[in-house]
Amino acid sequence: MSPASPPTAPHPRAAPFDEPLRPLRWIGDADGVLELLDQTRLPAEERWITCSGIDEVHAAIRRLSVRGAPAIGIAAAYGVVLGIGRGWSPESPLRPETSSWPARVEEVCDDLATSRPTAVNLFRALDRMRALARAIAHDPLAAAKARLLSEAHAIRDEDATSCHAIGEIGSSLIADGAGVLTHCNAGALATAEYGTALAPLYTAHRLGRRFRVYADETRPLLQGARLTAWELSRAGIDVTLNCDAAAAQLMRSGRIQLVIVGADRIAANGDTANKIGTYGLAVLARVHGIPFYVAAPTSTFDLTIADGSRIPIEQRHAEEVREFQGVPVAPADLPCENPAFDVTPAEYITAILTERGTIAPVNAAEIARIVQPRRPRS
Ligand code: MRU
Repeated sequence: MSPASPPTAPHPRAAPFDEPLRPLRWIGDADGVLELLDQTRLPAEERWITCSGIDEVHAAIRRLSVRGAPAIGIAAAYGVVLGIGRGWSPESPLRPETSSWPARVEEVCDDLATSRPTAVNLFRALDRMRALARAIAHDPLAAAKARLLSEAHAIRDEDATSCHAIGEIGSSLIADGAGVLTHCNAGALATAEYGTALAPLYTAHRLGRRFRVYADETRPLLQGARLTAWELSRAGIDVTLNCDAAAAQLMRSGRIQLVIVGADRIAANGDTANKIGTYGLAVLARVHGIPFYVAAPTSTFDLTIADGSRIPIEQRHAEEVREFQGVPVAPADLPCENPAFDVTPAEYITAILTERGTIAPVNAAEIARIVQPRRPRS
């Protein structure tokens, strides 16, 4: 950190951080409901929305009330439970062919899989729910619902455990006095709790290190300004907000010692999809000799694709670029490019932090060694 910007004391408005920040909660038994902290309203309002059916979950994912790769996967898993929950009965199917609960689970998974295309955690969670449903297809509905709810809870709990492990593994990178740049939101709000890219920061803060986080605002939907800055300052971490365009100058002025971001999908060779703008940051970091880290659980790797060219990139509506919170900032109907994600080539990534350890150098062999499930010895 430059002498002109010493680390400050903990944020004066910091609330006591007794309760972990969790953006999703299941209320009740297998006929219960899913509650989501509506991230479209933050930071102005902490409002929870209740989902009691899959249409509500699908819409919440689509409009980014719940967002961030792991959180999308967890929401979808609970969505499968809702799909055969109290709003559904085999006697009143929407289509005759879904009058059995296993068929209904297939239909629900197919539907939720269309909510967003890039984060692989969504498809991984749905595959897991589908596989369980197929394995217990002869169970009665009540027993199946309970099993599927336990599986959704397990997906949530495994993510929380992974995030805490990433925090432990990554905290040694955060030295006293460091300036850390992050992009979008890969914090508690994007996961079951604690986050991926923000987890090392939470752990370093708990260990008493003093450092400053620079949060890219993250146009067009401002996840950095609205979410990252909110959750870090809530935790008492020193955070400064900057326009995305300021990143190069911040690096050049010596205020950034490392960059750390999350991921939505990582190909077998390490090419990494994350929020649009990440690739540019990685190139800037390389030019300025600054290490560039990706933090992601192994559930974010997609070893079925060789490289990033096969990662589907979500294109979002032009209005998100042409308007700012409903106010036009460009001529109506002007063509816009609005890819939600970009792909950072593996060669720009210093290391990937996972719950199973650090992958460095980032290449197919190292990724396979850490990520591929170990086969039991026969
Ligand atoms: O469009 P979003 O807000 O879902 O994009 C989220 C990101 O790009 C995050 O960085 C990524 O999902 C990692 S979350 C731990």
